[in-house]
Amino acid sequence: MRTAAARARANIALIKYWGKADKSLNLPATGSISMTLSSLQTTTRVTFDTKFDRDEVSLNSSQAPEGVRQRISRFLSLVRSMAGIDLFGQVDSHNNFPTAAGLASSASGYAALAVSASRAAGLDLSRSDLSQLARQGSGSAPRSLIGGFVELGIWDGRGTQRCSLDQIASTKHWDIRLVIAVCGQHEKKISSGSGMERSRLTSDFYEQWIKTHNRDLDTARQAVKEKDISRLGPVVESSCFKMHAVALSSQPPLLYWNPITVAAMQKVWSLRETGLEGYVTIDAGPQVKVLCEAKNSKAIAEQLEAIPGVEKVFNEQPGSGVELLQ
Ligand code: PMV
Repeated sequence: MRTAAARARANIALIKYWGKADKSLNLPATGSISMTLSSLQTTTRVTFDTKFDRDEVSLNSSQAPEGVRQRISRFLSLVRSMAGIDLFGQVDSHNNFPTAAGLASSASGYAALAVSASRAAGLDLSRSDLSQLARQGSGSAPRSLIGGFVELGIWDGRGTQRCSLDQIASTKHWDIRLVIAVCGQHEKKISSGSGMERSRLTSDFYEQWIKTHNRDLDTARQAVKEKDISRLGPVVESSCFKMHAVALSSQPPLLYWNPITVAAMQKVWSLRETGLEGYVTIDAGPQVKVLCEAKNSKAIAEQLEAIPGVEKVFNEQPGSGVELLQ
């Protein structure tokens, strides 16, 4: 029997990726910049043993749906072929936050799975190899391998198909917050993977999204380094709403928001007019994440909690990268 466990935190993209350059290798069409969170996390244990006659997956102490089991089993097969083993595995994974509702559970999930499964299979992978492996589970997962502010690049067209993964700034660099309003906990109907593929194939805005992306990455990277919220915030909002404009203009349209999402974003904008500086970002789900300085985060969190329908508010600071557990 071989076993290993790992813990990874979710990350939220400040500059989004939406679209794949290669579907089978899950290569992103755009770079992205994220902040790793401090407390929303996935803990995963993987055990390979001769006693299993197929891969078994438990999520939050319940047997995973068959589709999820098969997706994770395909991922374990990648690890098996890298390690040259043929044992089936048992995966036991726990999230301390809502799963598959736009809170980046697949990012923390596949980062924790890449580390625990590769270790349990007897591999000691470099960060770059872990990143390529995690990416094949979920496009945003490599970013959860690292703490603080992280940039995931695109394949540069040379050599093997790899994406760069870099820390732009450490966890301690800037005491900035993402205040997260949970505006609905239902699993999304269209996964981000199928949503972005639909956008690539059908949205008239997709080309423009790709074309303007590097400029947004440059602005955000610089603003993070200079700890300039008034420069970072507008480009974060712009990247978010460009992504959702591409999603909405897909055929059929993709709308990940609900009325509570809209109420929360309007609240953030009206607070900004009164001097409470916060900027909205939203992923492929209804949750609203507000980027703000630590000094404003409590007041913003209180205002979001007061919105009818907001179920919970998290106040997240920059968190650390993946950890291998004993
Ligand atoms: O990790 P994926 O492939 O499910 O894609 C996540 C996409 C967004 O969360 C919407 C944006 C991002 O860059 O995280």
